[in-house]
Amino acid sequence: MGTQAILSNAELLLMNHSPPHAWLEEAQAEASGPASVLTLPNRRSLTTSIRARAQVFVDPRSLALLERIRMVAPSDANVLIAGETGTGKELIARHVHALSRRADAPFVAVNCGAFSETLVESELFGHEKGAFTGAFCAKPGWFEAANGGTLFLDEIGDLPLSMQVKLLRVLQEREVVRLGARKSIPIDVRVVAATNVHLQDAVAAGHFREDLFYRLNVVQLAIPALRERPGDILPLARYFIEDYRGRLGYGSHGIDPRAEHRLQTHSWPGNIRELENVIHQALLVSRQDMLQEGDLQIASFSALCPGGAGMAAPSASPVTQQTLESALRDLFNEAHENLFEHIEDTVIRVAFEFSHRNQIQAARLLGISRNVLRARLIRAREIAALK
Ligand SMILES: Nc1ncnc2c1ncn2[C@@H]1O[C@H](COP(=O)(O)OP(=O)(O)OP(=O)(O)O)[C@@H](O)[C@H]1O
Ligand SMILES: [Mg+2]
Repeated sequence: MGTQAILSNAELLLMNHSPPHAWLEEAQAEASGPASVLTLPNRRSLTTSIRARAQVFVDPRSLALLERIRMVAPSDANVLIAGETGTGKELIARHVHALSRRADAPFVAVNCGAFSETLVESELFGHEKGAFTGAFCAKPGWFEAANGGTLFLDEIGDLPLSMQVKLLRVLQEREVVRLGARKSIPIDVRVVAATNVHLQDAVAAGHFREDLFYRLNVVQLAIPALRERPGDILPLARYFIEDYRGRLGYGSHGIDPRAEHRLQTHSWPGNIRELENVIHQALLVSRQDMLQEGDLQIASFSALCPGGAGMAAPSASPVTQQTLESALRDLFNEAHENLFEHIEDTVIRVAFEFSHRNQIQAARLLGISRNVLRARLIRAREIAALK
C-alpha cells in the first residue's frame, strides 16, 4: 500500500505474542518506503487512557525520533518525554514500553496533575487499611500496579514538591512504603515521564527538583511540534480520515488540493490532537467524497501563531495564546461592565502576585514603568478582587 502500511487485526494479535522487537521489525519490513504507519498492541485494559494506538511517522524528523526510540527502548533507563500538548507523548511512551523487555508486563499511565496533593501520595505509593480517614481497605499504589512494567507519569511538572522528594527516594531505593505501613515493598519499575512545560525552566524557577530532573532525564525524547514535521501532516490527515470514515460508516474520502494546502499551512498549536479533531468534524459536515477547504474548521487564532500565514506572531507559545484568547472570548460573552479596566486590573494583579508583590519585578515583567504599575495597583486595590 504505497509507502505506508497499517497492520491488520490478525497481525495485531500476532504482535501481542511476538517478542517485543519482532512486530516492529515486521512492520518496518512491511513499510516499503521510509515512511511507516505502525499499530501498537491494544493494552487499554491496563491503562487509564483509551487513546494512542497507532503511529504515523513520515517526516524525516519523525523517522529519526522513531529510530532513537528503537535504540533507547530496550534499556531500563528512565525516559523523559518533552513536547507540546497533543504531540503524541503518551503514544510515544507506549511505544517505548512496547519495544522494551517489559512489553508483556503492565503499562500504567497516570496524570500527576489530576490528583490533589493529599491523594497523589496514596495513589502513587498505596496505603494500608486505616492509614487515613476513609482508608477502609489496603490498596496498592501505581508503583506496585506497574511492577515489572512501565509507569508513565504524565504532566510530571505538576507533581507537588513534597511528592517529588518521595518519588526521588523511591527511584533511588527501588522500594515503596505504603502509607501507614512499616514494611517496604521492592519494586522493579521503569519510569517514563512526560512534560509539556520546559522542565529545566521549572528547575531554574525552583518548582521542580533538580535531582529528580536528572533521575528522570536519563534519556530525553524531544517530540517535535507538528509544524516542525510538516511531512507528517497529510499522512496523518489521511490516517484520521480512514479511521473516522470507518467508525462513521462513510464511503471513501479524499482531500481536495486546496484543503490539503490549508492543512499544510496551518500552524497546528494543538498539534496532532487538533488535526484529528479537524478531520473528524470535517467528515461530519462534508457533503462530497473529497474534503473541501470549507469543511475544515480551523480556529482563526491560528493566523496569529508562529508558522501560520499572515499576521506577526505573538511572543507567547501557541497554546498559551490560544488559552488567553479563549478566556477573553468567554469574558466578552459574559458582557462585563468596564471590561477593559477589569482585564487590565487582572493582568496587573496577577503579575504583581507572580512577582511576589515586588513592584520593580512586576513592572519589568509587563514591560511598563513602575509609575504606571503603581497607579494601576492603586486603582485595582479599590476593587473587590484585591481585598
Ligand atoms: N504519530 C502518531 N500517529 C497517529 N496518531 C497519533 C500520533 N501521535 C499522536 N497521535 C494521536 O494524537 C492524539 C494525541 O496524542 P497523545 O495523547 O499521545 O498526545 P500528548 O502529547 O500526550 O498530549 P497531551 O500533552 O495533551 O497529553 C491521540 O489521539 C493520538 O492517538
Ligand atoms: Mg498526554
